[in-house]
Amino acid sequence: MASVSSPRLAAAVSNAGGLGILAASSQTEESLREQIIATKKLTDKPFGVNLMLMMGNIQKQIDVLIEENVQVVTTGAGNPGAFFPRFKEAGIVVMPVVPSVALAKRVARQGAHAVIAEGTEAGGHIGELTTMVLVAQVADSLDIPVIAAGGIADGRGLAAAFALGAEAVQLGTRFVATVECEVHDNYKQQILKANDRDTIVTGRTTGHPVRIIRNKLAREFERLEAERVPVEELEKLGTGRLKAAASGDMEMGSVMSGQIAGMINEIETVADVIKELVSGAKDTSKSIHEKISNL
Ligand SMILES: Cc1cc2nc3c(=O)[nH]c(=O)nc-3n(C[C@H](O)[C@H](O)[C@H](O)COP(=O)(O)O)c2cc1C
Repeated sequence: MASVSSPRLAAAVSNAGGLGILAASSQTEESLREQIIATKKLTDKPFGVNLMLMMGNIQKQIDVLIEENVQVVTTGAGNPGAFFPRFKEAGIVVMPVVPSVALAKRVARQGAHAVIAEGTEAGGHIGELTTMVLVAQVADSLDIPVIAAGGIADGRGLAAAFALGAEAVQLGTRFVATVECEVHDNYKQQILKANDRDTIVTGRTTGHPVRIIRNKLAREFERLEAERVPVEELEKLGTGRLKAAASGDMEMGSVMSGQIAGMINEIETVADVIKELVSGAKDTSKSIHEKISNL
């Protein structure tokens, strides 16, 4: 998660049995390298790096990943096909985020090791389909593992993802409201306060829709999009806003969050979140078994 997933958070996820993911996002090569080195100091477990494919310095970011022997890459915002030869040569496991069956099939043909099927209820950049319909259709279409993302925060969500054919889950919003996440406390409190209908999608007309918690920035986007202002003006409005939110600006910051925020009521440690995911999924599985046995 850009501006959010720091070495401390990524290492905490890996140390608790998950796979922590650092965000390369718009970082310079130098700061990306520093973050990778800092994460290695905090965990001896594997971790990955997320690349946003539209970044101008992406080839240089990939140089850094290869030099620092990063083993896993996830990709967002597009088709990573052009970069597969470099990943393959370096032996890097690649897991692209996909919003549709078509892109899932394409990246699988190109050599992806797994796909992250992310539903529109997720925080941040999103597609159109819900997790419920996307994960099952992607799982039916591919022979590689599917990781479900979007709207998962507890063991019920993990069990549901398994039921749809996923082999794993990716969490975003739940990890923002953790002790180890280093965003401003205002951001975490905003997630705790949010209810089921408090997120909104900004920037649909730019082709890069982003789900955030409703605030002054969201209203400004709504106003400008209704006025059909040029896309450049909307992009200018959105620039640097996640960083502002991470620094505590809840009015004009892009407070990226998924719809699942309505279910998050406590700041917990990453280890507790992951422990609950596993124990909650086991409890859910028992209760599903009982319900199905009574059919
Ligand atoms: C604050 C925030 C920043 C994010 N930044 C990125 C990013 O830089 N790259 C990316 O591929 N996904 C990004 N995402 C999406 C997450 O990686 C994840 O797929 C998504 O949050 C899952 O849905 P959930 O929020 O319902 O858990 C971001 C999500 C949030 C909440």
